Amino acid sequence: MKHNDAWSLYWQGGHQESCIANDSTEDQFILSDIWQEFAVSLAHNSAVLDLATGNGSVPHNLLSFNELLQITAVDRADINPQKHIEKNSLLQKVMFMPNIDITHLPFNENTFDAITSQFGLEYSALNLSTSELIRVLKPQGHFLFIMHHKDSEVVVPARAKVQEFELLFDSGILEGFEAFLNAGINLQQLNTLGEKVLAEHTMSKSEAITGQIFAAIDKLIQMKEQGKDIAELIKIYTTMKSRIIAEMSRLKQLISASLSKVDVTALCSSLESMGVNVVFSTIDLPQERGVLGWKIKGTKL
Ligand SMILES: C[S@@+](CC[C@H](N)C(=O)[O-])C[C@H]1O[C@@H](n2cnc3c(N)ncnc32)[C@H](O)[C@@H]1O
Repeated sequence: MKHNDAWSLYWQGGHQESCIANDSTEDQFILSDIWQEFAVSLAHNSAVLDLATGNGSVPHNLLSFNELLQITAVDRADINPQKHIEKNSLLQKVMFMPNIDITHLPFNENTFDAITSQFGLEYSALNLSTSELIRVLKPQGHFLFIMHHKDSEVVVPARAKVQEFELLFDSGILEGFEAFLNAGINLQQLNTLGEKVLAEHTMSKSEAITGQIFAAIDKLIQMKEQGKDIAELIKIYTTMKSRIIAEMSRLKQLISASLSKVDVTALCSSLESMGVNVVFSTIDLPQERGVLGWKIKGTKL
């Protein structure tokens, strides 16, 4: 699976957000406050470029606080935010551009008054995308990036989820089920394998991953027992498996995109060497409950 296939599948599934712990409204408020402050600091009609936009979470937030911004929003995935545009008229005036790699921006130099990114820039090759974004930003133009923190409340659980997916893949349960569908083993043998996997699977088994996969397999078994067409069952199973692989790919990208303090310091020095003023800080959760990410803010000289 190519990296952008995982994201194309994700955005086409209709999500509005991607990196908020359990769709937390608290996180949404924290992010929204940050974008509010930035949006109101920009003059009306400023030309803004949102990098790796997904289904337009940042444009939505910016336009909620400064309706007259002229926003262009790009992503390497095959995004099609039509469903969100229909629900949210603010997004109607955003120029969404799918299939754009931010390491090669199709814009002239000094085009934008401001550039934004929320959990997006760090997914790209930073040595290429940073020089591109500085090239298309106007002198005195501003940027604000919210980026993944290696120890954030999003990245830490993602590591545990990847581990759980990998253990399930290595356990042989999926191959066992495929053999069952193709009449290579019978139901009793499959049940024995399932029980063995659950017994040996001593790491935490979450309802969201192990629970859902076993429930989906149970449902397909019932459908087979009811005499449903095997070709149809294989099709459903193949779709389920490719969704699991896509989710794993997405989580692995998230983990490897996340930045330590050393990484952020190096990123900021590199930006400074390209002629910008830049400051960074953590985005802290209330009551010392950890961090949501990094905030990196600056101006092109
Ligand atoms: C975590 S999502 C963030 C999306 C959105 N900004 C949000 O906050 O909901 C990361 C996005 O980065 C995009 N992406 C990854 N590498 C990219 C690249 N080189 N150029 C453009 N987009 C990229 C992915 O397709 C994905 O939509």
